[in-house]
Amino acid sequence: MDFDIELSICDDQDVEGELLVVPVFQDEEKDPVLADLPSFPHRPLKGFEAKKGETRLVYEGGFEAEGLMLLGAGRQDELELADLTELGGSVYKEADKINAESCVFSFPMQLSLNREKIAREIVVGLKLAAYKFEKYKKKDEEKKENEKIIKKITIVIDDARSRPTVTRGLEKGKKIAGAVALGRDLGNTPGNKLIPDDLARKASEIADDYKELSLRIWDEEKLKSDGMDLITAVGSGSANPPRLIELTYEPKKSKGTVGLVGKGITFDSGGISIKPGKKMGEMKYDMSGAGTVLAVVKAVCELELPLKIIALVPTAENMPGGNSTRPGDIVTGYFGKSVEILNTDAEGRLILADALGYLSKEYGEELDVAFDYATLTGACVVALGHQAAAVLSTDDELAEELETAGAEIAERVWQMPLWEEYSEKLKSEIADVKNIGGRAGTITAACFLKEFVDTDKIKSWAHLDIAGVAWEMEELSYRPKAASGYGIRLTLEFFQNHFNL
Ligand code: BES
Ligand code: MN
Ligand code: ZN
Repeated sequence: MDFDIELSICDDQDVEGELLVVPVFQDEEKDPVLADLPSFPHRPLKGFEAKKGETRLVYEGGFEAEGLMLLGAGRQDELELADLTELGGSVYKEADKINAESCVFSFPMQLSLNREKIAREIVVGLKLAAYKFEKYKKKDEEKKENEKIIKKITIVIDDARSRPTVTRGLEKGKKIAGAVALGRDLGNTPGNKLIPDDLARKASEIADDYKELSLRIWDEEKLKSDGMDLITAVGSGSANPPRLIELTYEPKKSKGTVGLVGKGITFDSGGISIKPGKKMGEMKYDMSGAGTVLAVVKAVCELELPLKIIALVPTAENMPGGNSTRPGDIVTGYFGKSVEILNTDAEGRLILADALGYLSKEYGEELDVAFDYATLTGACVVALGHQAAAVLSTDDELAEELETAGAEIAERVWQMPLWEEYSEKLKSEIADVKNIGGRAGTITAACFLKEFVDTDKIKSWAHLDIAGVAWEMEELSYRPKAASGYGIRLTLEFFQNHFNL
């Protein structure tokens, strides 16, 4: 992702690049940029229909020569913001494919969409398409030296007046992509390289970078003495002790206060209720909610948003062991409700219960909204596949706002109900609640969490089950296989809309 993105106005003379990418709309006779090109066939080539994402290399060029690629952009009136992210991703991919070291990408900014957002999404697409996780691959220095990688992408616009707006979008896009990359890196890091203490260290590195951030970390002792017994119960089988991380962002000016909680199970074996071996490796992603929360905090700092943020990451490794929690154990955590732990594989809700209980008691009254992000249930993947996160909320308007924000930037959410009847299934004979019960696994899991949210204080809470979207199963333009960084862009878009930023 280490290339420069620059902005240039159409008639700047000095724009140079090995590959020139020109978007072509299906419903446009003459692209203004295209029309300026000498000797370019006016209406594109056989078989090229300019459908969204369709590409056609007109000529590849040679060394120092300009290659030219047409990029289908579909019908102009149908173009949505999320398409621009895709187009940005395609440009990077195509330039990379032909080993171009520089690329010029022209894009008309007179679309009906917001220009700042157009630029932002193009940049997000360009940058995120270039994301790679290669930290654990041996580096071949010689190969690396000869490797041709993109060093510079120039975005050309045809309207000088929009320069400031577009520049703003460009800068935002870079920051957002940087945060998403952090979320992806955390998600992709395997369980042996990212234990709860590593997550705490990551948080402390972030806290070091921004003066508005303050950090608190609970180690195992402190978790015990503060009564966070659900977090310690989940971590008790592992040699790598659990933590609770709290990051607080307090800018000078603030338009609201937000609580964020992320599930940080660095590896989920299931514990004594151990999981089958098939696909167990995927459970290194079980801290994706934590990754989202840390990345959102970083983005908020980078973008200097006027919001107070309380971010909590309960983190543990769920392992079987001599000290593990047994199915049937009863544990009372921070909130004071006792839990009959009938399945140790339903561990995410346990650590979240302590964090949400703490958020309620310490900050409940001052919060405008609270979110939690968790790869919480396999049932969510059954219900929605990999296309959307489930949202369950005490506030239907909040759920709707999330749906709107998600639709805009292609991180979709779909609401499920939090009706009382489901909570009935969590009643225990011998404790206040049990940690499993009933069908509708995603809903009962959310109902369990709700037991630990003080809804008198926190009026607007939404739980996002990201089990199906935290990692990609197939490569898509700006989303490689593996950790997606889902939820970061969604949350930032929500902030912008909800708080009028
Ligand atoms: N981390 C898993 C949920 C999960 C499974 C996420 C597959 C993504 C893909 C969670 O801790 C879990 O194990 N949930 C159980 C709950 C059950 C025991 C009630 C599940 O979904 O099977
Ligand atoms: Mn589990
Ligand atoms: Zn889990």
